Amino acid sequence: MERRLLDAALDRALDLAERGPLTGGNPRVGCVILDAAGRPLAEGWHRGAGTPHAEAAALAAVPAEHRHRLAGAVAVVTLEPCRHTGRTPPCAAALHAAGVAEVVHAVADPHPAAAGGASWLADHGVTTVDAARAGLDPALVTRAHELLHGWTTAVRRRRPWLLGKTATSLDGRVAAADGTSRWITGPDARAHAHAVRAQVDAIVVGTGTVRADDPALTARTPDGRPAPHQPLRVVVGHREVPDAARVRRGPGEWLHLRTHDLVAVLAELDRRGLRRVLLEGGPTLLSAALRAGLVDELHAYVAPVLLGAGPGAVGDLGITTIADAARWRTRRTDRLGADLLLVATTPSLHPTTQGAA
Ligand SMILES: NC(=O)c1ccc[n+]([C@@H]2O[C@H](COP(=O)([O-])OP(=O)(O)OC[C@H]3O[C@@H](n4cnc5c(N)ncnc54)[C@H](OP(=O)(O)O)[C@@H]3O)[C@@H](O)[C@H]2O)c1
Repeated sequence: MERRLLDAALDRALDLAERGPLTGGNPRVGCVILDAAGRPLAEGWHRGAGTPHAEAAALAAVPAEHRHRLAGAVAVVTLEPCRHTGRTPPCAAALHAAGVAEVVHAVADPHPAAAGGASWLADHGVTTVDAARAGLDPALVTRAHELLHGWTTAVRRRRPWLLGKTATSLDGRVAAADGTSRWITGPDARAHAHAVRAQVDAIVVGTGTVRADDPALTARTPDGRPAPHQPLRVVVGHREVPDAARVRRGPGEWLHLRTHDLVAVLAELDRRGLRRVLLEGGPTLLSAALRAGLVDELHAYVAPVLLGAGPGAVGDLGITTIADAARWRTRRTDRLGADLLLVATTPSLHPTTQGAA
């Protein structure tokens, strides 16, 4: 099929994929089905764990009177169709059974159980096309890898994608000398941070933050109501979490992991199927995670406030000279009221069209 038509279909499939949730353990996937003449026939996207995959949603969206047009059709998907029976049946088999003749995918599935859909399809006479190898628009292929990067990385490494968050004064402090820290950043930055909480599977803090700030760690909408999705609240450290601590209250669940072993913490969260985790501090826990190379993405909110004294966002990382500084890659900057947000990813991980990480 003409590259122009496949590019347009992949572009649309990516728009659809972006409608999917960032939370819930499953990837965001979109699918567009073109008939043999290249005309759009149906589209679908994955709405989250337990709901149909994008391919199944697209197949189900083909009107009964147009089902004959599936013979010889081309399915364009952002992620390789799965070949395993999980909570839903395998998509590779569903596409084959429907009469689809060609499947184009942008990103290979790294999931040990689900991978291999493309080779299964090829074994069953369906033409399978890797978008990059077939010369589709590289910008679209990169977009697909970026969209799925957190998920594919989490699946490949068997630990969640870890976002670290700091909210600091202009001089990099997270609290004043007396330990007070409410509020360094303004309402827009705090609303943004709450929106991010609603897009992660878990929030992790150390016992120090719980005891100093008594945060609720819930995700709230700008009008103060609980967001529909509440992340698991995780407190790490040996000290007790006070009975009256707000983190113990709902909505949603909380968990106390009495350890300093952050690899074990992430392994436990992976075991629970969590792929996107936000580390909200404090400085001790964040520094430990950074030293261990566990933080993938940093969200640094910076307020035009000077404190002059008080703890910094990050403690000693073992860097003694500027040549050894950890230089992160800026992915985005946003102005949030009077404050700024800088989103950066660790230099050791970045998406490529090969999907290598
Ligand atoms: N502005 C911000 O973005 C922000 C965010 C969060 C906190 N804060 C501020 O940070 C201050 C609290 O700082 P903090 O550093 O005490 O908080 P923290 O990092 O939340 O807690 C530190 C505690 O976590 C436990 N822990 C768990 N794993 C650890 C590991 N791998 N290494 C070391 N300790 C580990 C230890 O407690 P155990 O002894 O119980 O094991 C340690 O004392 C407060 O003033 C708070 O307001 C600011």
